[in-house]
Amino acid sequence: MDILEAINLRKSIRGYKKDAVSKEVITEIINMASRSPSAYNTQPWEITVMTGEVLEKIKQANITKLNSGAASQREITLKPYKEKYRERQVALAVELFKLLGFTLNDEVKKNDWTKQGYLFYSAPIGIIISLDKSLDDQPLTLLDIGAFVQTLCLASLSYGLATCIHDQGIMYPDVIRKFTNLSEHKRIIIALSIGYPDWDFPANKLTTTREPITNFTSWYGFS
Ligand SMILES: Cc1cc2nc3c(=O)[nH]c(=O)nc-3n(C[C@H](O)[C@H](O)[C@H](O)COP(=O)(O)O)c2cc1C
Repeated sequence: MDILEAINLRKSIRGYKKDAVSKEVITEIINMASRSPSAYNTQPWEITVMTGEVLEKIKQANITKLNSGAASQREITLKPYKEKYRERQVALAVELFKLLGFTLNDEVKKNDWTKQGYLFYSAPIGIIISLDKSLDDQPLTLLDIGAFVQTLCLASLSYGLATCIHDQGIMYPDVIRKFTNLSEHKRIIIALSIGYPDWDFPANKLTTTREPITNFTSWYGFS
């Protein structure tokens, strides 16, 4: 697949077919992603891949915990977005919910939809990206992770697979650690769902918009 075609084709997929994805395929994708650049070639990414019974148990434990009202215990702190960034966040939600048949004010349906993230959007493969806590004061590691994750998403396309990067899968780190050997010394950063896309799933029709590049690009020295 042509690189530009892959970049254009990639989008977040939030509904998957049940078909299993082999360890061989995921291995090849992770191998490709490991070619990503990182600051000083430090390669700080740590990858935990889950499928089958293990992922199923994590999904169910996430839902049990969510239903019990447990607050998020995520290991990186996020602040609310403001101004144009908040506007873009809301615009995404409006578009996504429209395809799913509800509005921003429908709290019941919104809560139901949130659960899908805790269920890894029904994907057969869940991936957790973490960083060693000794790197906590190294801000470039988040850039390294970003490069790795984007490469992983693009490489997945070559195998007919789709992806969604998400926070919901990592809201309860104790659940992840209960069913994997992920060490307390690793900081969980983000989750990914991978699987074969279900194109009949309404949310997968979404193609998000982008700002024109004139809004964020400055040029100097061109004639
Ligand atoms: C760091 C990061 C966190 C994200 N978290 C979520 C999430 O929690 N739930 C979700 O559905 N999508 C999540 N996304 C996907 C974004 O919503 C998506 O990339 C954005 O809307 C652009 O759409 P596209 O990926 O389809 O091009 C996340 C993406 C990134 C890069």
